[in-house]
Amino acid sequence: MIRTYDDYREIYRKSIENPEHFWDTIADQFVWHKRWTKTVDWNFNDPDVKWFVDGKFNITQNAIDRHLPLNSGKTAFIWEPNSPEGHKRIITYQNLHDEVCQLANTLKNLGVKKGDRVCIYMPMIPESVFAMLACARIGAVHSVVFAGFSSSALAGRIQDSDCKIVLTSDGAYRGPKDIPIKSVVDEALRECPGVEKVLMYKHTGTIVNLTEKDIIWQDVVPYASPVCEPEIMDSEDMLFILYTSGSTGKPKGVVHTCGGYMVYTCYTFQTVFQMDGLNDVNTNQNVFWCTADVGWITGHSYIAYGPLLAGASSVLFEGVPTFPDAGRFWNVIDKYKVTHFYTAPTAIRALEAAGLQYVAPYDLSSLKVLGSVGEPINEEAWQWYHKNIGKEKCPIVDTWWQTETGGIMISAIAGITPTKPGYATLPLPGIQPILVDEKGNEIPGNDVEGNLCIKFPWPSIVRTTYGDHARCRQAYFETYPGLYFTGDGCKRDHDGFYRITGRVDDVMNISGHRIGTAEVESAINSHIDVVESAVVGYPHDIKGQGIYAYVIVPSTTKNHDMLKKEIIAEVNKIIGPIAKPDKIQIVNGLPKTRSGKIMRRILRKVAEGEISNLGDTSTLLDPSVVEEIVKGRL
Ligand code: WT7
Repeated sequence: MIRTYDDYREIYRKSIENPEHFWDTIADQFVWHKRWTKTVDWNFNDPDVKWFVDGKFNITQNAIDRHLPLNSGKTAFIWEPNSPEGHKRIITYQNLHDEVCQLANTLKNLGVKKGDRVCIYMPMIPESVFAMLACARIGAVHSVVFAGFSSSALAGRIQDSDCKIVLTSDGAYRGPKDIPIKSVVDEALRECPGVEKVLMYKHTGTIVNLTEKDIIWQDVVPYASPVCEPEIMDSEDMLFILYTSGSTGKPKGVVHTCGGYMVYTCYTFQTVFQMDGLNDVNTNQNVFWCTADVGWITGHSYIAYGPLLAGASSVLFEGVPTFPDAGRFWNVIDKYKVTHFYTAPTAIRALEAAGLQYVAPYDLSSLKVLGSVGEPINEEAWQWYHKNIGKEKCPIVDTWWQTETGGIMISAIAGITPTKPGYATLPLPGIQPILVDEKGNEIPGNDVEGNLCIKFPWPSIVRTTYGDHARCRQAYFETYPGLYFTGDGCKRDHDGFYRITGRVDDVMNISGHRIGTAEVESAINSHIDVVESAVVGYPHDIKGQGIYAYVIVPSTTKNHDMLKKEIIAEVNKIIGPIAKPDKIQIVNGLPKTRSGKIMRRILRKVAEGEISNLGDTSTLLDPSVVEEIVKGRL
């Protein structure tokens, strides 16, 4: 237990000196069918990392059944629908158990077996979490795809991991919109002959086109048995795949395994947020709310697994922060007396811009802890959040982590370690960050800046990228041999506190969502009139980063406005609206080196408006290209 800053320092030191002992103590708090024989076995060259070797258990037994003897009536989720006029749903741990087992049995009846991949393309309704847990219950591997991705992005993900079945709903509400997501699935399945069945939850009542593969959830799940013995899994059996963008190529399927992910998400949830006494229904009235979507890692780790493993009560919110107006978050906090609130800087900035009149009507006095995740939080937004939402009494935990890390890595511990605006602050126990220079030499000491790496494994480190282990090695372990490379730049200040400065690779962070420049370029290039394109991120007041696209089209293309609209439509079709360019500049050429490499550094500077100092342009094949680009900049 960490109670003071001194405790943290002491526990941190011990966790580094003897990681095995540290993690054994934590892992011993779970229910294991058979205890592990070795705590960690690893090398970062292949890479090959195993935690809790030979341990046998089931994560859902730990997330659900374990809580039933004392807390079957405790709320697991309070579901708040998209519309404030809709009806909330309360899901107790007992309800969760029954729903998950019924769905697990249904999946079994549909032929899903241990190790099979199941795609989940669903809105933010409790059934999405039931779906994840039902897979875990029977040892199937879930691959949740954010329901804002297009049919072609969905198809690519289904194909890559060869999913046998897709779980979806008829439609999804997002603010004022009613999105027919079943039809997106139908479209995707034209390219996915391997999918045998589609289980569709009727949610919005939208008219759908039923095919012979379709089964309506409500027709089968309620009739299945609410008892389903958990499949006994090995620690290193796959738990899920989650696709994320990198600097090159198509999104990668990040693989997490059962044991390490369970131990790490629960431990970090409990440690960072400090929701004491979670397992006691009578003494704990805390309510956690993570506003992410389950389609992202934040939703996996801190809506589904972490809070449930810890026995917490959480809000599950279907809607968006600005519907019906920019007071919705504050309204929900007031309504459910949320104590621990976890959101993204982009949402904070958007709600700040809307004005304090949206905050004023609500009582936010239940709040104890505020969290931030997904992108660097600028000082202005931090202060606004601290003053107007936390009323200067709630610590802000700025949590740095990644899809590949599975859980929070660098963060303040609420109420225990110091916070500092713009700083993720200190590594959690067990985490060994180091900064390196371009050549991979460690940069020691304080008041320094470098590339952020981690030098020792933690339980939920990425194990592989699905179907392509070499890609996992190349992306994370090859740049600096012997280290896990995060892709982020980072400062360590005079106190040893860490401040993430943003990606140092060709990955953008748009509203806290990770998008590869290469992916957007490839989507733009698929427009018939596009010769070539280059995409960079640029500072955006609300989104953190916006997407700036430089596009070469033939001189015969006359109507540029029309073309830009078509390019946006193309990106929407191939990836989804989250990847659509904010600015498109039509150019005649791109700055390239003599070897034909695009000099993104220059394009980034122009997009940022930093044209006075473009750096060395002498190696360019044709320096006049830069002049033209600067002149035409948007
Ligand atoms: C990238 C990972 C972690 C869940 C959501 C995003 C950036 C994340 C922070 C933070 C500064 C942050 C990094 C990281 N990032 N949290 N607190 N401060 N930057 O997961 O999609 O895998 O993206 O998000 O650049 O590498 P993701």
